[in-house]
Amino acid sequence: MISVNVPGKIILFGEHAVVYGRPAIAIPVHNIQAKVTISPIKSADEGSIYLDAPNVNISAWLHDLTEGQPLREAIQLTLNALNIHEFPAFQIKISSTIPVASGMGSSAAVSVALIRAVSIHLGNPLSIEQQSAYAFEVEKLHHGTPSGIDNNVVAHEKPIFYTRGEQPQIFIPGERMVFVIADTGIASQTAQAVEGVRERWVSDEDYYEAIFDQISELTVLAKRAINTGDNSTLGSLMNQNQVLLKALGVSSPEIEKLVQCAQSAGADGSKLSGAGQGGNIIALVPPSNETEVSNELKKAGATRIIVAEVSA
Ligand code: MEV
Repeated sequence: MISVNVPGKIILFGEHAVVYGRPAIAIPVHNIQAKVTISPIKSADEGSIYLDAPNVNISAWLHDLTEGQPLREAIQLTLNALNIHEFPAFQIKISSTIPVASGMGSSAAVSVALIRAVSIHLGNPLSIEQQSAYAFEVEKLHHGTPSGIDNNVVAHEKPIFYTRGEQPQIFIPGERMVFVIADTGIASQTAQAVEGVRERWVSDEDYYEAIFDQISELTVLAKRAINTGDNSTLGSLMNQNQVLLKALGVSSPEIEKLVQCAQSAGADGSKLSGAGQGGNIIALVPPSNETEVSNELKKAGATRIIVAEVSA
């Protein structure tokens, strides 16, 4: 039996601007994971695959799923890449503890876990770069025009500095970083939020390009602050990024409330994370303040708290 776990993710800097060619920073979140297990089925025909994904109410043979269905697509891309079409029947079980529609990479993690597990099971593990590239194809089915940051960070399972179309730069922070991630309880629809920014950008390109440039500058400074372990500068850069995300039109009253709450409760900085208009906020906290900030966020209406850590 093969079992593969892939972490969720959170964006620290540069969401939306990354769709327009600017850099962004993301980290894996290891305490939430997509899990795929594969086991043989002795009684079924050669080449058949049974899929059991209770989270999305799927329990079916692969060939009975409609073409273009993302899970089917991830498996099909893997079989085509390996050029293997004859194999003893097997069953794939998919589960995930990554919240959906909250900017935490749930679709990308499921795709990477599937691609990785199927290729290992068939005796020809695909490289991390290939896993990420095929998961990117599946991300397009979910989100339209993704930047590729989600599939890259979950496939590499390390903090990355990412620019669209380039290999991600993996980096190690100079100091341990602790983040409190708080959910507004409102679904964040990536494709819709990205499309909204696109419409506003089309109506006033110069204005939005200038915002993307400012976000890009913050992201470059953030990378330096992370490398040197300067959490106080990093927090201030997060606050500045939030002001620019608001100017892009992807914040919301619920996000603003949680962002302000984290700052008043002693966070070094906070901002929305991911597509926005709902979803999560992320706060960088001094480790001694983690409980206090988490409690205040719950009181302010956060429906879920996840703590993420990156070690030096
Ligand atoms: C979504 O997690 C992040 C966005 O920048 C979209 C993307 O990068 O594909 C909003």
